[in-house]
Amino acid sequence: MGSGISPGKTSGILLRTYLPTDAPACKDLFEQLFEAHRHLYDDPSIGRRGPAHELRKLLRRSGARNTWVAIHNRRVIGLMGLLPHRTYGEVEPLVVDRSTRRRGVARELLVQALSEARRRRWTYLALRPVARNAVALRTFHTVGFTFLGQLELNLRLTERGRSALVPVPGPVIAGRRFQV
Ligand SMILES: CC(C)(COP(=O)(O)OP(=O)(O)OC[C@H]1O[C@@H](n2cnc3c(N)ncnc32)[C@H](O)[C@@H]1OP(=O)(O)O)[C@@H](O)C(=O)NCCC(=O)NCCS
Repeated sequence: MGSGISPGKTSGILLRTYLPTDAPACKDLFEQLFEAHRHLYDDPSIGRRGPAHELRKLLRRSGARNTWVAIHNRRVIGLMGLLPHRTYGEVEPLVVDRSTRRRGVARELLVQALSEARRRRWTYLALRPVARNAVALRTFHTVGFTFLGQLELNLRLTERGRSALVPVPGPVIAGRRFQV
C-alpha cells in the first residue's frame, strides 16, 4: 500500500500548532466548514451549536498540540485537527479559508499530518468526509487518500433536514449502486 502524500508547490505558508490567539480565526473557519455542509445538504440547522462549541470540542478531544493552523501573511487560513486513536490517526476537521482555496494549503496540512503519523508510528491515517462532499473527496484522492476503509450506510427516516434532500447517484461498490 502506498504511504505517501504527493508534495505540493505551496510557498509562504507556515504551519504550527494552535495558540489561544488563533481562536477568532479558527471560529471563522468552523463557520465556513458549517457553511459548506449547509450548502451540501440544504440544511441550515448544521452547526447550530456554533463555532465556539466546535472549537472547544476540538481542543478537548485533540488538544492544542494536535490542532494545526496554516498561516499566510500572519493570518490563519487553515485549520486541521488530528485525533489520535490507538493504532491510527484521524484528520478531523480540515478546512481552508475560502479566499485561499486551490493553492495547496490542504495538501500542506495533510503532508504535516503524514509526518506526525510517521513520527507516532500510526499504521494509517483516516479521513471521514460526508459522501456528498465531492470537493473534499477530490482533494483527498488527489493528495493520496485512495484506499477506501470503513463506510457508513444510512437509512433515511424523516423528511426533514438532510433526509429531505433528493439523493443523487453515488458510487457502485460490491456491485451495488449507492446514493449520496
Ligand atoms: C476541501 C478543502 C479543505 C480543500 O482545501 P484546498 O486548500 O483548497 O485544497 P488544495 O489546494 O490543497 O487542493 C489539492 C488538490 O485537491 C484537488 N482539489 C481541491 N479543491 C478542488 C475543487 N474545488 N475541485 C476539484 N479539485 C479540487 C485539486 O487536485 C488540488 O490540486 P490542484 O489545485 O493542484 O489541482 C477546502 O475546499 C475546504 O475547506 N472546503 C470546505 C470545508 C470542507 O469541506 N472540508 C472537508 C471536510 S471533510
